[in-house]
Amino acid sequence: MSVLIGEGDPAARLEVRVCDGLSCAIMGAPSLLGALQRGLAPAVQVRRASCMGRCDKAPVAAIGHYHLEHATAEGVVSCVQSNVIEPVVPRTLELAEYEHNGGYQLYRTCLAGERTPDDVIAVIEASGLRGLGGDGVPTGSKWRAVREQPAPRLMVVNASEAEPGSFKDRVTLERDPHRVFEGALIAAWAVGAGEIFVVLRAEYAALHAILGDEIAKLAAAGLPAATRLHLRRATGGYRASEETTLIASLERHGARQSRPTLVNNVESLAWVRDIIERGAAWFAGQGRHGAKGLRAYSVSGRVKEPGLKLAPAGITMNELLEAYCEGMADGHRFQAYLVGGATGRFLPASKADIPLDFDRLKAEGATIGTGAIVVLSDRDDLNAAARHLQHFIETETSDVG
Ligand SMILES: Cc1cc2nc3c(=O)[nH]c(=O)nc-3n(C[C@H](O)[C@H](O)[C@H](O)COP(=O)(O)O)c2cc1C
Ligand code: FES
Repeated sequence: MSVLIGEGDPAARLEVRVCDGLSCAIMGAPSLLGALQRGLAPAVQVRRASCMGRCDKAPVAAIGHYHLEHATAEGVVSCVQSNVIEPVVPRTLELAEYEHNGGYQLYRTCLAGERTPDDVIAVIEASGLRGLGGDGVPTGSKWRAVREQPAPRLMVVNASEAEPGSFKDRVTLERDPHRVFEGALIAAWAVGAGEIFVVLRAEYAALHAILGDEIAKLAAAGLPAATRLHLRRATGGYRASEETTLIASLERHGARQSRPTLVNNVESLAWVRDIIERGAAWFAGQGRHGAKGLRAYSVSGRVKEPGLKLAPAGITMNELLEAYCEGMADGHRFQAYLVGGATGRFLPASKADIPLDFDRLKAEGATIGTGAIVVLSDRDDLNAAARHLQHFIETETSDVG
């Protein structure tokens, strides 16, 4: 394959990135990268890049800001030649529709004094909701601890999703941004934070436009009331999404210094409205095998139906595979699964009856983390996959200090 691009051609300034996350790697990204480097470079800059948060549509390539899913060399070349470089803005639930479905009524009852911060925190505590950004810290206790710190306080919505294999925060925000905003506004009200910074991964360009528009609509409707909502881009890699690094970076870019700060993940906040409206017992009762609640699993790899799966906390891999993913892809036998992203572990298929829960996986030296799961089959080289992950960790930590 070869493509001719003349000087002055817009494609000559173009960058094509090929995802080198594990899900894309097993679905053919390395050979795609090689073909593009041979066919497009040097006229077009072709390079590898970190997980783009679309692992269920692997392999993925970005042409400028356009993400080509299930990418082939021919598909990428066609985008380059036709100058398809802008992100596709997905359909989202806009403010008017969200409000039409009862959205922000809960927040209004908080502002009207029909609920107290203590009541709301108690419901979140009783629900058993644990932080879904990876660490699993109980959300209610975290809110209480921040509320007990001296004012003024800040809040950060961690939407910097850089965990390889994870795409739940992008999908959640694309589908229903106001559910996350309402959760954040209630959290900020409960802990007494006057400003909220939504820190969004820079890779998610279309989502940035959506959130900017919806925040502007909220402001025009006078809804955030006493709380100011800001949107910021997270430009660092995986380590930059960790909360202390995120706060330090915000402070360098103008956020008030050293204020007690509540940091919550997008998905943790997305559950707040349902938990308060339906009750703590409803949420807690959704879990399986001793775990509490529901959560979003980002499933990719060799399953028939990869994607975002809303399923009980504590479900086993075998249950998730059969009931939510239609089993393995044709011609593939279940060999192993990576659970918990970059800091997670590969577990063999023989250990697929362990509940996917923070506590139960600990005994295996694993974690459910953000709920990212990559399924490998007998056609995949497990040693190569382990080396791939090791390389990611080494690269991400090599510039520490
Ligand atoms: C290396 C590293 C990367 C992280 N990346 C994210 C991330 O992309 N998104 C996120 O919400 N939390 C991430 N976390 C966890 C955050 O530090 C923090 O615990 C979380 O945002 C708190 O929200 P939660 O309690 O609602 O989970 C990361 C942690 C580490 C150590
Ligand atoms: S998009 Fe390629 S591994 Fe996530």
